[in-house]
Amino acid sequence: MNVFIINGVNLGQLGTREVDIYGHLSFDEYLRDLVNQYPDVNIDYLQEDDEGELAQAIAEARDYAGIILNPGAFTHTSVAVADAIRTTPCPVVEVHLSNIFGREPYRLRNMVSSYCIGSICGLGLDGYRLALEHILKKCSTR
Ligand code: DQA
Repeated sequence: MNVFIINGVNLGQLGTREVDIYGHLSFDEYLRDLVNQYPDVNIDYLQEDDEGELAQAIAEARDYAGIILNPGAFTHTSVAVADAIRTTPCPVVEVHLSNIFGREPYRLRNMVSSYCIGSICGLGLDGYRLALEHILKKCSTR
């Protein structure tokens, strides 16, 4: 089974960026563990700061059982990312490390959630594993 994890803008700085909110672990370190925990799953990974490139990667994704997407700040601003989610045939699970509902009011605006099959937020990096578990379960009952 193939799963695509896509992180958007500024998520390349996990581990050093606002560690009180996002923690001390880099995504590469986390991903290494995740890949080891799921040896039967092929996990592709992309981190992209450019909005257009991000939208294109989502829209062109094919043949994945699911996409696990954290668009970062584009969540709150990007019609392009929202349109890309509508374009890809792959189901998309939205993940945020922080609880976007308990932060600044501008994070309440969400362009992407309604086009995703579900959203996980506020559970830190574990949100990615939970999203993966959901995709695996969905596939095993299909
Ligand atoms: C984030 C939440 C966004 O509001 C923020 O802009 C991010 C990270 C999260 O994972 O909690 O860059 O997507």
